[in-house]
Amino acid sequence: MQLFGKKDKQQVPQEFLPRHVGIIMDGNGRWAKKRGLPRTAGHVTGAKVFRTIAKYCDRRGIEVLTVYAFSTENWKRPQAEVDSIMNLLRDYLKESLSDFKHENIRTRFIGDRSMLAEDIQALMAEAEEATAEKTGMTLNIAVNYGGRDEIVHAVRTLVADGVLAEAVTAEAVESRLYTAGQPEVDLILRPSGEFRLSNYLIWQSAYAEYVFMDVLWPDFTEKDLEEAFSEYARRNRRFGGV
Ligand code: IPE
Ligand code: IPE
Ligand code: MG
Repeated sequence: MQLFGKKDKQQVPQEFLPRHVGIIMDGNGRWAKKRGLPRTAGHVTGAKVFRTIAKYCDRRGIEVLTVYAFSTENWKRPQAEVDSIMNLLRDYLKESLSDFKHENIRTRFIGDRSMLAEDIQALMAEAEEATAEKTGMTLNIAVNYGGRDEIVHAVRTLVADGVLAEAVTAEAVESRLYTAGQPEVDLILRPSGEFRLSNYLIWQSAYAEYVFMDVLWPDFTEKDLEEAFSEYARRNRRFGGV
C-alpha cells in the first residue's frame, strides 16, 4: 500500500500497532481563533478530519477506534456552539447511511443518548443497524459521553440486574460498560497540547499508553497518526510485571 512513498518502509508493522485507539479530537476552537474564524468553522474542519482519520485507521488494520465527539461537560458551551456540533453530527449520520456505508466500518455510539434530540437518536440507531454486519474496524463515536457517567451507568445496571455484592468483579463492571466485549484500549491520543483525559475512557485506559501532540485537531494528518503509532511501538508495556 503506497501511503507516504519512500517513507512506507518506516511504517510500524501491523503486529506492533495498537488494537484499540482512543482519540480526543481537541483544538477545533483554537484552530478557528488563530484564523479569525468562528469556533464553528473549527468544528466543520474537525469533522472532515475525523472522516479521513477514521477511514485511514480502518485501512491500517486498527480493530477499534473510539473518538471523543462531545462530552457530558460540553453542554456548558454556548447554545449556538452546541447546536452547530449537533448539526454536524446530523450531517455525518445522514452521510453514514449513504456514502459512508460503502466503507467496511461498523459504527457504534457510546454515551447517554437520552439527552440527544430524537431525530439524532433515531439516526444513530439506523447507522448502527446499517453497519452491524461490517467486518472491518469498529468505530465508537462518543457523544454525550463521560467516563464517570459510564461507570455510574454500569453500576446501576449491576444493581438492576440483581448482582450480589460478592459477584461484583472488575469483569462484571467491564461487561456493563459501553465498550463491553471490545479489546482493551491500548493507545489514547490527544492532540491540541493539553495533558489531560477530560473524563474520557477512564476505566478502559487504566493501562493505556498516552500520546499527547501539539497539533490542533483540524490540522491533524495521517502522518501525525503514524508518528503516534511509532511512539506507541517504542513504548515498553509492562502491566505491572517486569
Ligand atoms: C474539540 O475542540 C471539539 C469539542 C469539544 C466538541 P474544542 O472545541 O474543545 O477546541 P478548543 O479546545 O477550544 O480549541
Ligand atoms: C474533550 O475536550 C472533549 C472532546 C474533545 C469532545 P474539551 O475541550 O471539552 O476538554 P477540556 O475542557 O479542555 O478539558
Ligand atoms: Mg477543547
